[in-house]
Amino acid sequence: MPILQVENIYKEFGKLEVLKGISFSLDKGKTLAIIGSSGSGKTTLLRCLNLLERPDQGIICVNHEIIFDAEDKAVQREAQIRKNRLNFGLVFQSFNLFAQYTVLKNITLASELLAMGEKNRGKSSAVHQRIKEEAYELLAQMGLSDKADAYPHMLSGGQQQRVAIARALALKPQILCFDEPTSALDPELTGEVLRVVRELADKKTTMLIVTHEMAFARDVADHVIFMDEGLIVEEGTPAQVITSPREERTRQFLSRFSNEP
Ligand SMILES: Nc1ncnc2c1ncn2[C@@H]1O[C@H](COP(=O)(O)OP(=O)(O)O)[C@@H](O)[C@H]1O
Ligand SMILES: [Mg+2]
Repeated sequence: MPILQVENIYKEFGKLEVLKGISFSLDKGKTLAIIGSSGSGKTTLLRCLNLLERPDQGIICVNHEIIFDAEDKAVQREAQIRKNRLNFGLVFQSFNLFAQYTVLKNITLASELLAMGEKNRGKSSAVHQRIKEEAYELLAQMGLSDKADAYPHMLSGGQQQRVAIARALALKPQILCFDEPTSALDPELTGEVLRVVRELADKKTTMLIVTHEMAFARDVADHVIFMDEGLIVEEGTPAQVITSPREERTRQFLSRFSNEP
């Protein structure tokens, strides 16, 4: 059953048409990899799903609830957008941790702020405790139990990215999105990040991953979408799209990776 349905998303920046009618769906517990050359609109698509950009046309549904409809102003109110954004967790290419806060606080901050806005303030110390415990669990899952009190600058890029993944998971999103999570990392640090993403896939976390790691996409993704110039050119299983692409454009794109093991 699809947890995410995207229908006919268009987005332009001035005269530049970046997304030209993107439709796909993602089933609960599955991993979708989006591949495509630089400039094909992958980041813009992720930003539209996370409502960091407003699509010019199209509909986005999560759990069969419309969270965005370009034709319906009611779902575009700022408070509604903020609430709907919580359906998604986002891990960026460049980590984007808060440099002034410890690892623990990076993970707990958003949950703490949300809890403060809720009505159960009377129970705040219990809530506070629960948020902290969950953060420690996530740190353990990321192999970073000893880094709770460290600051981001004290960590390697791979460790910072794992903190960013823990931070995204802390809000228990329905769908976890990654935008080239390893492309800012040295090759020797890429593996440790891909390993935790693979573990999340094994635990049936619903994920949408924009990546240039073809071997990883082939191994971990249930479904692959190849985008070019704002359109989906080809989609299917990794075996179809990555191993035996039907479209010439997909073949050309993949030939650039042919030296990979
Ligand atoms: N905020 C923006 N304003 C203007 N142009 C943008 C903006 N964001 C992205 N673009 C342009 O949209 C195109 C697609 O970009 P992007 O979504 O980042 O592609 P990808 O992630 O596939 O490399 C590029 O030509 C880029 O320059
Ligand atoms: Mg991008």
